[in-house]
Amino acid sequence: MRDALFDTAITRLFGIRHPLLCGGLHWLADARYVAAAVNAGGMGFITCMSFPGDPQAFRREVQRCRELCQGKPFGVSVAISRRAGPERLDPFIDVVVSEGVRFVETSGDSPAAILGRLKQAGCIVMHKAPTLKHATSVQQLDVDAVAVVAGEAGGHPGTVMLPQIIQAPLAADRIHKPLIVAGGMSTGRHLVAAIAMGADGVLMGSRMLVADEIWAHAAYKKHLTTLDEHATLVVMKTLRANHRVLANESARAAADLDDSGVTQFEPYAPHASGELAREAYRTGNFERGLLSAGPSVVFANEVKPVEAIFDQIIDEAAEALHRTTRAVVRPVAAREACA
Ligand SMILES: Cc1cc2nc3c(=O)[nH]c(=O)nc-3n(C[C@H](O)[C@H](O)[C@H](O)COP(=O)(O)O)c2cc1C
Repeated sequence: MRDALFDTAITRLFGIRHPLLCGGLHWLADARYVAAAVNAGGMGFITCMSFPGDPQAFRREVQRCRELCQGKPFGVSVAISRRAGPERLDPFIDVVVSEGVRFVETSGDSPAAILGRLKQAGCIVMHKAPTLKHATSVQQLDVDAVAVVAGEAGGHPGTVMLPQIIQAPLAADRIHKPLIVAGGMSTGRHLVAAIAMGADGVLMGSRMLVADEIWAHAAYKKHLTTLDEHATLVVMKTLRANHRVLANESARAAADLDDSGVTQFEPYAPHASGELAREAYRTGNFERGLLSAGPSVVFANEVKPVEAIFDQIIDEAAEALHRTTRAVVRPVAAREACA
């Protein structure tokens, strides 16, 4: 594991060596993956919606993670959907609270309905917002950190889809809590750029899909290592439920529905069921199912352990900092120094 290179509001809030967070991954972010992120000096979040209707299976996964982390705190990810209603989450929140989980990533809709219970139980809560507007309003709540997702993100990038290079500096100006940027973040150069733009850390999804500790079939992960930057599509735009996924058979069928102006979910259902995606991860048949991924998958060109990915990112960040320093004419301690 590399020595710490950064000391930010995020490394301090999470008590981690590197400002590297691995966001929730439906079906994929399990105890083994999350523990690998924690043991490599970052943070990960077991995704509770990978255990639909089965909070006891989620509890067992949380317990397994605790063992694998050898006492170090870890996180869980809770997706909030206005349509499904917060009551659906109650049994999962019961697990988070009774198992003493320290960190929670909330995503999707506002976490207001579950925040009180989480904070009362002593959880540190980071809300991951799909737009800058949502992020700006959620900071009024009792959340400890805010993550903002940009248009490049794999999964659900929201409907505004600002590019990270525009959104991150705006977020830094408007968010007055520890700030994480998500979407496209995948190399040490991104990490340095994110910090330069005013963030305190990055959150990754697509870059991590090729980690050894991701349980998905080897054929799927090998496929990811061969992809270029054009390998993803945004579908379900007409439903205003933008989903950035691998460009495969199912994605092309969904894109055709978008093009024909479909505004009901039913025609998408045969391509979009979560079970189809789980089956694809299990069998390695990556042509079927809407498989979340963003263009930063182009940087995921080797299957290796989470720790080796983090080491690579930190080495790249050190090199990027060095390059930046070499490009500066004279040392600048602070903005006033330029006056
Ligand atoms: C395969 C996959 C599954 C995801 N599942 C979830 C999820 O269940 N909940 C969630 O909040 N975010 C989910 N995300 C989003 C990530 O946590 C993260 O915000 C996003 O991947 C960051 O953008 P990037 O892919 O460019 O790194 C998923 C992303 C991917 C690639």
